[in-house]
Amino acid sequence: MPYGTINHSGSASHSTSTDNSALTKAVTINTLHKLKRSGEKFVVISLYDAHMANMAQRCGVEVVLVGDSLGMTVLGYDSTIPVTMEHMIYHVEAVARGNKKSLIMGDLPFMTYATPEDALRNCARIMQAGAHMVKLEGGEWLAETIRMLSDRGIPVCAHIGLTPQSVNKFGGFRVQGRDQAQADKLLADAKLLEQSGADLLLMECIPAPLATKITNEISIPTIGIGAGKNTDAQVLVINDILGLTEQPPKFSKNFLLETNDIPGAMQKYVADVKAGIFPCEENSFN
Ligand code: KIV
Repeated sequence: MPYGTINHSGSASHSTSTDNSALTKAVTINTLHKLKRSGEKFVVISLYDAHMANMAQRCGVEVVLVGDSLGMTVLGYDSTIPVTMEHMIYHVEAVARGNKKSLIMGDLPFMTYATPEDALRNCARIMQAGAHMVKLEGGEWLAETIRMLSDRGIPVCAHIGLTPQSVNKFGGFRVQGRDQAQADKLLADAKLLEQSGADLLLMECIPAPLATKITNEISIPTIGIGAGKNTDAQVLVINDILGLTEQPPKFSKNFLLETNDIPGAMQKYVADVKAGIFPCEENSFN
């Protein structure tokens, strides 16, 4: 096949041991709820192109996030704030071409969902580009928006804790929820977002005991990054998994160091999350 053509069956063009764990069926929201109920962890990777997306389906990655982190990892910005709808649509389309099995989640960029009407219009564009669900950063203020999207058939992952689009408000990329008042607010927000119709909750950089409490007190699946090992799923950015980040965050791990090749690194990440080996204490906050 010329120029590394993508093989959606995951069997021929790049045959590796990862084929054993390839997704056999398309993942849906129901699959993720079932995994939560059964106690099996699911795996999320934030990635941005068709080939990595295809590898993810061959490695058994249930959810592919096209994150607005692409502003930093691909486009070279210092934050996610300059990311536009056009950037997101370009990358969601590429990922959707490469992966027919994982659930594809698309981020809404900075200020594109400031009102429920903006959210509706821009979520529709991300869904039409190939995403199966959207991710929005925020707490209580998002409740009305999530209700509106959910009622109109758009599944939503709510992202709380360290929400990078608010980096200027936080005064830097800092762990959130360390004092009691903040922790109580995050728990209350999580419950409200679930009641408003959120299908998933992503928690970034919060103390592990708080993430555990939230996971136990809501019924939708939780995804953690820097939130300890007790969330229902874990997410990492592909650049961190492959050791491409100059100053890797504490919550990440370079899986390429222990493996011989890129599919092997992705497969090791999947296996370590499923086995509860990753994240460990050193990747978590207290
Ligand atoms: O944009 C992104 O990739 C994300 C993950 C880091 C959770 O939001």
